[in-house]
Amino acid sequence: MFTDDLLKGKRVLITGGGTGIGRAMAERFLQLGATVYICGRRAEVLQKTAAELSASTGGTIEGLTCDVRYDDDVEKLIEQLWAKGPLDVLVNNAAGNFLARTEELSSHAFDAVIGIVLKGTINMTMACGRRWLAAQHKGVVLSIATTYADTGSAYVVPSAVAKAGVVALMRSLAVEWGERGIRCVAIAPGAIRTEGAFSRLLPVPELEKKVLEHHPLHRFGTLEEISNLASFLISDYAGYINGEMVYMDGGEMLAGASIFSLIGRRIPDAAWQIMKPKKQ
Ligand code: COA
Repeated sequence: MFTDDLLKGKRVLITGGGTGIGRAMAERFLQLGATVYICGRRAEVLQKTAAELSASTGGTIEGLTCDVRYDDDVEKLIEQLWAKGPLDVLVNNAAGNFLARTEELSSHAFDAVIGIVLKGTINMTMACGRRWLAAQHKGVVLSIATTYADTGSAYVVPSAVAKAGVVALMRSLAVEWGERGIRCVAIAPGAIRTEGAFSRLLPVPELEKKVLEHHPLHRFGTLEEISNLASFLISDYAGYINGEMVYMDGGEMLAGASIFSLIGRRIPDAAWQIMKPKKQ
């Protein structure tokens, strides 16, 4: 099914598309014929990614700055994109996360993660959804969730709270907007090696080793695997998949919920101190 024209004619926006999983999805969608827009907070990262992916795939890609936490920023971006025609797919990928003992988190720390993950997803989904509904244009919203969205997880609590909200949003809107042509789906990935995630969540090799020992397949997921799954889910082949969250974790959840609970309880005090952000 992964023919060059699978996503031909589709205009796709990927939040947090400059790096990591967002960048990998952008590359795959371009290879499959989509026109891709990536947004994020850092202009230089977006421009570099857009230039590299345009050169490597020959596809059409544009990078635009936007902080998904702020709805006026999001409105401005979506208005700008819609001026050239409606989007067909929104991928809510932008995320923030770090390992921490919950009792040590400030209110600002909760805000930072919930702002990006939950408020960012709400802002983007509403901005696109309202326009799709008004124009009776079909649309797909794909949100990158996490395996612990349904169970909660110790040591990544702001993320767990926010991702649970994201999944609730997708499942709710799948029903409310489904009959008006909008599909809402999610992916719950297990660990996939990216600089952004691993530097914050598995910062030392011993933790990686623990996770892999526990994992049924003894390996992490790959960027190719998640990009192919995302391509399928946003394509017309997945037209009857709505309100679903697909687990792509190699069976890790079935081996025991909440991987960060497993490793967090083994982290010594001194290591927690090292992982805290340095005050200026
Ligand atoms: N432990 C405890 N608190 C932490 C923390 C950690 N490891 N990292 C950040 N915080 C706190 C900060 O101390 C700050 O709170 P304070 O002002 O009360 O001290 C608050 O979180 C916000 O941090 P700041 O760096 O100012 O926010 P930001 O908006 O620039 O960054 C983050 C947001 C923290 C989510 C940052 O990690 C980020 O930008 N991540 C994006 C990429 C990412 O996380 N990718 C992985 C996804 S899996």
